[in-house]
Amino acid sequence: SIPSLALPVGVTLDRYIMHKQSSFPFATGELSQLLRDIALAGKIIHREVNRAGLIDLTGGMGIQNVQGESQQKLDVIANIRFKRALKNGGEACAIISEEEEDIIYTGNHHGKYIVAIDPLDGSSNIDVNVSIGTIFSIYRRVTPVGTLPTMVDCLQSGRKQVAAGYILYGSSTILVYSTGSGVNGFTYDNSLGEFILSHPDISSPKDGSIYSCNDGNWDMFDEPVKAYLTDCRRKQYTARYIGSLVGDFHRNLLKGGIYLYPPTAKSPQGKLRLLYEGFPLAFLAEQTGCVATDGVQPILDIEPTSLHQRTPLYIGAPVMVQALSGYLEAGQ
Ligand code: AHG
Ligand code: MN
Ligand code: MN
Ligand code: MN
Repeated sequence: SIPSLALPVGVTLDRYIMHKQSSFPFATGELSQLLRDIALAGKIIHREVNRAGLIDLTGGMGIQNVQGESQQKLDVIANIRFKRALKNGGEACAIISEEEEDIIYTGNHHGKYIVAIDPLDGSSNIDVNVSIGTIFSIYRRVTPVGTLPTMVDCLQSGRKQVAAGYILYGSSTILVYSTGSGVNGFTYDNSLGEFILSHPDISSPKDGSIYSCNDGNWDMFDEPVKAYLTDCRRKQYTARYIGSLVGDFHRNLLKGGIYLYPPTAKSPQGKLRLLYEGFPLAFLAEQTGCVATDGVQPILDIEPTSLHQRTPLYIGAPVMVQALSGYLEAGQ
């Protein structure tokens, strides 16, 4: 018989992962190991983030990444830390990252998994002590184990994710992830060096009254988006926008809200990256009863065609996203 998955608040992430694995009789433990590697990278980045102002880790690198953004020192360091943890861990055969143009081969051709990462989300907030995060998503490779992974392994649809999550370096650090059977959050206890289950089986409100978007882009929004936002104002909803997607998403997940990054003249396909931001957060959203769409279809149904493709993103409480979709459909 399959033992109950329920574990009390206060258990460590390691124990939780072990317990979950033991309830799947044929599980080999590789995904568990991969999740532990990601948690380790998260602890290391937590440490770097916390002392960034003391050890000259703030500021830019003076170069642009493949996205055309000026890369911050912590973007680069988080990317390196993640790659190192995943290479050493051995379970990932390839990594794709917001910060690198091409597939990163780990050398572990026998690894079964592909990991997509936004190593540091919210770069513009690093130097001003505002919440930032890491976003990850995991796929099983489709090419034979033992061979060099290819683009086919990396460009799978969002529905093929086997796990996804984020680490939010906020007023406390929290790791939130899902392997497809619910979402759980683990708060980092600095004194123990452990992630502790603090938010078991997260469910998100069906409706909410928080909306999050960059209001400075207003003039570039399409009419239906403006109409929806006007409605939010008329209802005197609360506007909350940090500029760290992971922080805005986490708040809305717990409190009930909608996050919008519509297409703009500057980013006609939207700004956010489908593989590193859209897919993982949409996976978590659906797991908690929320909805994520690009305005045309569910984010998870999109078939990606390139590593760094962008997408409009409307994500959050189902009642709110449906109301917005009503405007978008009427506008077509
Ligand atoms: P990143 O720091 O990983 O490049 O992501 C930045 C993203 C996202 O975190 C945030 O919500 C959005 O960009 C903010 O964009 P604007 O400054 O255009 O509002
Ligand atoms: Mn960036
Ligand atoms: Mn990001
Ligand atoms: Mn980033």
